[in-house]
Amino acid sequence: MCGIVGYIGFEDASTFMLDGLSKLEYRGYDSAGIAVLGPDNVIKVQKKVGRLANLEGVVKADPNPGFMGIGHTRWATHGRPSDMNAHPHTDAKGLFAVVHNGIVENYLPIKEELLKKGYEFKSETDTEVVAHLLADMYDGDFEGTVRRMLDRIEGSYSLVIMCADDPSRIICTKQDNPLVIGLGKGENFIASDIPAIINHTRDTYILNDGEVAIVTKDSVSVSDRAGNPINKKVFHVTWNAEAAEKGGFEHFMLKEIYEQPKAIRDTLTGRISKDNKEVIYEELGWEPADVASIDRILITACGTAYHAGLVAKYYIEQLARIPVEVDIASEYRYRNPLTDKNTLAIVISQSGETSDTLAALKEAKRLGARSLAVTNVVGSSISREADQVIYTWAGPEIAVASTKAYTTQLVALLLLAVYLGQLNGKLDASLREQILTDLHELPNLCNEIFESVDDIKAFARNYGFREDAFFLGRSIDYAVAMEGSLKLKEISYIHAEAYAGGELKHGTLALIEEGVPVIALATQDDVREKMMSNVKEVKARDAVVIGLGLAGDTELEKYVDHTIFVPRADKYAAPILAVVPLQLLAYYAAITRGADVDKPRNLAKSVTVE
Ligand code: F6R
Repeated sequence: MCGIVGYIGFEDASTFMLDGLSKLEYRGYDSAGIAVLGPDNVIKVQKKVGRLANLEGVVKADPNPGFMGIGHTRWATHGRPSDMNAHPHTDAKGLFAVVHNGIVENYLPIKEELLKKGYEFKSETDTEVVAHLLADMYDGDFEGTVRRMLDRIEGSYSLVIMCADDPSRIICTKQDNPLVIGLGKGENFIASDIPAIINHTRDTYILNDGEVAIVTKDSVSVSDRAGNPINKKVFHVTWNAEAAEKGGFEHFMLKEIYEQPKAIRDTLTGRISKDNKEVIYEELGWEPADVASIDRILITACGTAYHAGLVAKYYIEQLARIPVEVDIASEYRYRNPLTDKNTLAIVISQSGETSDTLAALKEAKRLGARSLAVTNVVGSSISREADQVIYTWAGPEIAVASTKAYTTQLVALLLLAVYLGQLNGKLDASLREQILTDLHELPNLCNEIFESVDDIKAFARNYGFREDAFFLGRSIDYAVAMEGSLKLKEISYIHAEAYAGGELKHGTLALIEEGVPVIALATQDDVREKMMSNVKEVKARDAVVIGLGLAGDTELEKYVDHTIFVPRADKYAAPILAVVPLQLLAYYAAITRGADVDKPRNLAKSVTVE
């Protein structure tokens, strides 16, 4: 998730680009850069690690004049945040400049091929291969070379490319990542998102996957990959700048909830073998012996990430049969824990900066454990401290309440459980194949949930003014109940508690009275009967029960007052789906109560104090 801009026209390109990038910083902010084609047809690149202000300082001190340019604000994927890894990337001769959002999946074999031919790489990024590949394939025809280059690369991308040999046009294309072209008079604009161009034009072309746009100062022609022209309709933007930043959603939280199908797809990308038989965690590269030496797994994290750890315990114990303990990071280091060299310590953190989690990681390492971080932020403190890292690729999460970071953590951890089971031989090959095959469907199933959002809004309106709510679940559903309860309380300020179904009668049942909403999760077949007895217990005290189950569960409808269904999925994927309506329920309850959804009181996105 990076921000991209491009300009061709009669104004100073860098002025537009710096302004445009400032509107996109929410998409990534670890480094920024611009490339401008100067009057002498030389591409001058300036890039700087850190916030955009650093780049602005560089450009102010050393202006970069010209009427055509491309720019980028980065959210690191391949390669840590640094000046070198910042975009744009160029080939050795400075003929091509490239900015890229996404992942070039097959960059390693291409890089090896280019290295053998003598190309030298300056960065650790996947993007740099595009610049060298273009230089390698260049035959004097900019457009033809770009099209042939596109046949070589796989993955998800939006790409904007400039060629010093061809000063009249910028070429751009996209696959699974956004790109818009702003239509001006005597000038045209390119951006990954509308906020970057909204001050200049409201008429746009929204590019579709596989489309290639040739942008000059006076024209924009769009064609498919084979070069067949496409007649684009002008999309007139009516949003104001603030709404545009949120992609037209009212809040970042809602935008991020709806981004989950894509985020999940990105997490899965490149991590399942083509025949669905194996998990490929190239970044771990473990052999069976690496897993055989693990006696136990310790998971530590805070808040929502801790809840992801609770689900992961089920995944790993069921699929790899390795004992797992899950501890709240702030508790772990004060309990003289039984961690040693045969422990694999997994820390989970969206931001990679949470102080308690970082301290727990250091403590586990001090006690001799091997460490693995599951995080969303490349180059974060936790990613640097851990021995190995799995990135979740959810893209920047702006809302304080975590949504897409959590679901992608679950996906990454489910893949890890399968990987462990595959390496220690404890996971049956046919179940492995089944889980991995089903995972490809998860983004689509997640999309289906959004079709029943009106029901969820109605529940939120009906129960949004109650002061208490209870969440019940058993087995994996219990962990999901905890996450649903946290979401509700942190943004709507409704007091909510999550209980393992069987535990209620040991005290909390005393609080259940007429009209109290109880959200009962029932996605796990093996504990279903038991769960239904717990539902009867609360119904008998006149609670209003909302049952959350799998589509087609007509039986559930008989026990509860209302139902929310998620598409039918296997027991491992079900918790990933089940949390989505709970996120929506929390969101709409907060809206009903007029709460500040994106910035709940007393909370911060990244907690860097103990
Ligand atoms: C809740 C939430 C927090 C975080 C917690 C850990 O919605 O976002 O509970 O999960 O503060 O943060 P990270 O994952 O950045 O370590």
